[in-house]
Amino acid sequence: MHLYLRFAVILLSLSKWATALPPWGSLAGLSEREIEAFARTVTVTGAHPPPGPDPDTSPRLVNDAAHPYRAPGPNDIRGPCPGLNTLASHGYLNRSGIATPQEIVNAVQKGFNMGNDLAVFVAWGAFLVDGNHLTNLMSIGEKSSATGIDPPPPAIVGGLNTHKVFEGDASTTRGDFYFGDNHSFNETLFDQLVNTSNVYGGGYYDAAAAAEVRWNRILDSKARNPTFDFTSPRYVTAYAESVFPFRFFVDGRNQSGALDLITARGFYQRSQFPTGFYRRNGSFGFNEIGPDVDALAEAHPIAPGHNEGVGNYVLNPEDPGLSNGLCFLYTKHINTTLTSLYPNPQGPLREALKENAATFYTAMGDSSCPQVFPFGR
Ligand code: HEM
Ligand SMILES: *[C@@H]1O[C@H](CO)[C@@H](O)[C@H](O)[C@H]1NC(C)=O
Ligand SMILES: *[C@@H]1O[C@H](CO)[C@@H](O)[C@H](O)[C@H]1NC(C)=O
Ligand SMILES: *[C@@H]1O[C@H](CO)[C@@H](O)[C@H](O)[C@H]1NC(C)=O
Ligand SMILES: *[C@@H]1O[C@H](CO)[C@@H](O)[C@H](O)[C@H]1NC(C)=O
Ligand SMILES: *[C@@H]1O[C@H](CO)[C@@H](O)[C@H](O)[C@H]1NC(C)=O
Ligand SMILES: *[C@@H]1O[C@H](CO)[C@@H](O)[C@H](O)[C@H]1NC(C)=O
Ligand SMILES: *[C@@H]1O[C@H](CO)[C@@H](O)[C@H](O)[C@H]1NC(C)=O
Repeated sequence: MHLYLRFAVILLSLSKWATALPPWGSLAGLSEREIEAFARTVTVTGAHPPPGPDPDTSPRLVNDAAHPYRAPGPNDIRGPCPGLNTLASHGYLNRSGIATPQEIVNAVQKGFNMGNDLAVFVAWGAFLVDGNHLTNLMSIGEKSSATGIDPPPPAIVGGLNTHKVFEGDASTTRGDFYFGDNHSFNETLFDQLVNTSNVYGGGYYDAAAAAEVRWNRILDSKARNPTFDFTSPRYVTAYAESVFPFRFFVDGRNQSGALDLITARGFYQRSQFPTGFYRRNGSFGFNEIGPDVDALAEAHPIAPGHNEGVGNYVLNPEDPGLSNGLCFLYTKHINTTLTSLYPNPQGPLREALKENAATFYTAMGDSSCPQVFPFGR
């Protein structure tokens, strides 16, 4: 091809995906030139520090006049997390489903009384791999239908739906990636939660029911999904997400730890607070969730592992699961996953990755865990 023509073709394809990648899309897998082209189309803000705790942790009315439920519009994004979906549908988060990690932390604190350490750790854990480090924006779900053409793989367009970075297998009410990447509410899976809660929780989703629901979802993925992956971070987040409903979705004037199934459906399916809903009494962070997570895991022990074909669960003995704090999860997330997404980041992107990785380290709160610096100090 004529040199001049080849240059024009490159420019054309550059502009095609440069407009296709939305400001909240992940930059993972893009070349330096592609990232520079993207940076020219957006406001580059880079990383920012995380918010502190909410000084008020009282049980307050959160489904109030200032935060009415509104169903998402055609371009509003919702994803696999009923907590974040609900916050967006009530305006605690931008109703578009696009937000900064700072906004996500503030919203989970204000709307649900999530503890600051847990909130920053989870929000940054997700943002690091699914967010856009130059614009400081991320999506709580799939890409917008208004997005247009996708950039070429391995670039990641989606937010929290992106498989195997923070989204994972054996979800409670969402199917595995292998079965068709459906991050939407699944009625059959919710019916299983209802049935199990009737048998083990007396009609409520409580700690006893949660242990059985979690185990059934693990057994199902083990038996049917040849690509089932149950290693950190998914190993840890799967147990945590089974705890959240009976600690965050129960009205704060009644700290029973028993979630009625009508309320459960409202959160899981419609992303909606019940009428007159009060958030929980007191914040719920690492100290509080530890014993709950351990109880679920001890009810039906299974070590971290992955399937090599259906029913063939192979252990990952290097992964300590829940037995050794969060150091393994942290190190794998930064030193392996993040570096595979960003092998050689430059300039402002490198600076933002460095700062966001440091925020994640600090949120873990374990100074005995060696900090890793794959992007420099
Ligand atoms: C701090 C920011 C948060 C982020 C970034 C986040 C992200 C996620 C993601 C990516 C998933 C999907 C994991 C998967 O199933 O593959 C998820 C699931 C879930 N999240 Fe969140 N979450 C956050 C806070 C919360 C809060 C505050 C609540 C409750 C009030 C919550 C409740 C849940 C529940 C119950 C699930 C499991 C859904 C299911 O398996 O059907 N999350 N979250
Ligand atoms: C909400 O998100 C939309 C779309 O990303 C953006 O245009 C708008 O400015 C955001 N609103 C606020 C209050 O941040
Ligand atoms: C995902 O689930 C929704 C709701 O159950 C359904 O309407 C849709 O067709 C499903 N999509 C895929 C790809 O399975
Ligand atoms: C919902 O989950 C069930 C059980 O895993 C599965 O058979 C069904 O295809 C799923 N439905 C959708 C719409 O994804
Ligand atoms: C739930 O239990 C009812 C009544 O026993 C049964 O008809 C239904 O098939 C069960 N649903 C699931 C999804 O297991
Ligand atoms: C919240 O918890 C505190 C401390 O346990 C208790 O004194 C207070 O009465 C509780 N508030 C409500 C509304 O239950
Ligand atoms: C608290 O909730 C439990 C289970 O939902 C219910 O049995 C109990 O009556 C409630 N107590 C109050 C004081 O509302
Ligand atoms: C992090 O990765 C680097 C480069 O692969 C390696 O040399 C180092 O030992 C790793 N650190 C930890 C704590 O795993």
